[in-house]
Amino acid sequence: MKINGIEVKIFDNIKWLYRTCYNEVASAIKKSARPVIGFATGSSPLPLYKIIVEEFGKGKISFKNCVSFNLDEYIGFNASDKNSYAYYMNNNLFNHIDINRKNINLIDGSAKSCEKEAKRYDRLLAKENIDLQILGIGTSGHIGFNEPGTNPGLGTHVTELNQRTINDNSRFFNNNLELTPKSAITMGIKDILKAKRIILIATGKAKANVIIQMLYGAIHPGFPASYLKNHKNVCLYLDKEAANLIRLN
Ligand code: GLP
Repeated sequence: MKINGIEVKIFDNIKWLYRTCYNEVASAIKKSARPVIGFATGSSPLPLYKIIVEEFGKGKISFKNCVSFNLDEYIGFNASDKNSYAYYMNNNLFNHIDINRKNINLIDGSAKSCEKEAKRYDRLLAKENIDLQILGIGTSGHIGFNEPGTNPGLGTHVTELNQRTINDNSRFFNNNLELTPKSAITMGIKDILKAKRIILIATGKAKANVIIQMLYGAIHPGFPASYLKNHKNVCLYLDKEAANLIRLN
């Protein structure tokens, strides 16, 4: 079904939701000799990465020719920090598949100059066209770490995190707000919208509200995910709970 130009798929069965997302990845990989995939972190894409690793183990999929970009990284964190997004990607996906290390693009949150690091990443992104961008959504309405108030014309940039995001993310930091990162480097909304296809995964009742705002609200900087309505090829993958407030008539 389409709602305000966005394709929406609602699944009773969460396993089937992730299996269908896997099919998206497999098809993007089949379609191109050098597929470029944009990966996201957070809990939403984790079951997808698990399926990818399993299917790779069975010889069903290969990332040999694939190039990857990740959306964002916490400032002050490098790949050896267990809470970094680089660690997450290596641990949950890259260490278990055949992607060529030199084709993996990650933001270095421990760079001396984060501004320079953002520019470096932006130059890399400018040369590529992401075939499939995987996204989650924050309860602040962020995509990547584009928080409310972000200029949608920005490329990769340094950003302060919204208090809501800090609260949400504190669960990964022993619920200690002091230890939870307050800033990050993120791909911009502009970069995300350049992808040929975008799939956004949202599950659980905590996401029901932001899904409604994205689908029915105005497109404006106060709600970054609303810019997805400017893209021609976005699909939302929702479970029943995240889709709970969508009126079907
Ligand atoms: C994080 C990430 C986003 C992610 C979002 C939702 O802070 N920066 O890329 O989509 O928050 O996370 P989750 O999937 O755990 O709800």
